[in-house]
Amino acid sequence: MKQSDIIPFYGGKYPELFEIERRCMDREGKVIDFLNSSLPNGKILDIGAGNGFTAEKVMHSSRQIIAMEPDDNMIDQHKDLVWAKGTAQHIPFHSNTFEAAYATWAFFFNGIPDLDQGLKEAKRVVKSGGDIIIVDNYGHDEFLSYSKQNLSSDSKMWTERGFTAHFIETAFIFDSVEEARTLLSFYFGEAGQTVEKTTFEYKVVAYTKQVE
Ligand SMILES: C[S@@+](CC[C@H](N)C(=O)[O-])C[C@H]1O[C@@H](n2cnc3c(N)ncnc32)[C@H](O)[C@@H]1O
Repeated sequence: MKQSDIIPFYGGKYPELFEIERRCMDREGKVIDFLNSSLPNGKILDIGAGNGFTAEKVMHSSRQIIAMEPDDNMIDQHKDLVWAKGTAQHIPFHSNTFEAAYATWAFFFNGIPDLDQGLKEAKRVVKSGGDIIIVDNYGHDEFLSYSKQNLSSDSKMWTERGFTAHFIETAFIFDSVEEARTLLSFYFGEAGQTVEKTTFEYKVVAYTKQVE
């Protein structure tokens, strides 16, 4: 695994902030519901699994999730998951190992130079007929309106690559205004410091494609 292939992420350094993010960003579990209804049984790869939040929620007795994550500081060994260390660019598994693979807000972002290398790897390890599912911000919502940067995914980039977009309307729901300010000011600086509420519209998109 090449260290330079890893995209720096704050969660290992500030786990308490990442805990707020994960608990609040899709509070009603709509992304989890989408994955649960889309993923088959059998062996599934989670690419850039973070602390295993999603993997833990979509696994069950007939569906084994391999949580692949390159950053040691993100891997939560207390979770009852099978972990693998690896990056999207070089997936450490044989070809045709998995029934499907998914990534939630990991690696497959706009402007990543190795994006197609990551897709090639995902296709290689998923069996023919299995799905690749990429979950990212859709944008055009209240949550991202606080950001000065464009953090929306580029739907055209995915449809050009043969993916179908599925829109998921969810919400960041915090326990308190204080908690909302803590996370939103960390993300967005001053714009997040003055929020007065706990619920923020948040639009997500899942891009899916069947491996040929
Ligand atoms: C925004 S977090 C998302 C974590 C998790 N998928 C979730 O939804 O909670 C992005 C994760 O991707 C990991 N990552 C960074 N570079 C990567 C790469 N090249 N391949 C796969 N994952 C990577 C980071 O370490 C981090 O854990």
